[in-house]
Amino acid sequence: MSGPDTPLSTAIPALDPQSVRLSADSLRRIDREVAKYPAAQRQSAVIAALAIAQDQVGWLPPPVMEEVAAYLEMAPVAVYEVATFYHMFQLRPPGRNKITICTNLPCALSGANVAARRLQEKLGIGFGQTTADGACTLVEGECLGACGDAPVLLVNNKQMHGLMNPDQIDALLDQLAAETKR
Ligand code: FES
Repeated sequence: MSGPDTPLSTAIPALDPQSVRLSADSLRRIDREVAKYPAAQRQSAVIAALAIAQDQVGWLPPPVMEEVAAYLEMAPVAVYEVATFYHMFQLRPPGRNKITICTNLPCALSGANVAARRLQEKLGIGFGQTTADGACTLVEGECLGACGDAPVLLVNNKQMHGLMNPDQIDALLDQLAAETKR
């Protein structure tokens, strides 16, 4: 988990979604994932490859998913199916910061709904929406694997924050706002 001095904001790059291509570094990272599977099963690396592509681009425009499909020798529709199934994949450009909160039952029983309301009130948006200034996108997520730390938030797909009471949520949003202005 991040401490109070850990930067939270990972800037989403401003790229033309139609012309962006996977970088040499991303392809190298995908190759490392592909190497974990038998040669005839390149497709097994699809989740990792999509995560790497999203790391680079900030979200998953269709041309990027098609490039992943070609690289893994898969039908594009099979890649779309994976990307649309998992909530961590962003199919539209997000705000500069993406905040996901788990509202599954175990978390709901431990205050996730209160935390979700606080986020919605403070940001002035609902789930799946982005603030007018483009700073934050709020996502309702599935189990983040940290049920014992509910309420649990995930910032920019990478940084987990657990046991989030309303004051801590306010502090987190203030920190994100300050970093986004820099
Ligand atoms: S149910 Fe919320 S993190 Fe598992």
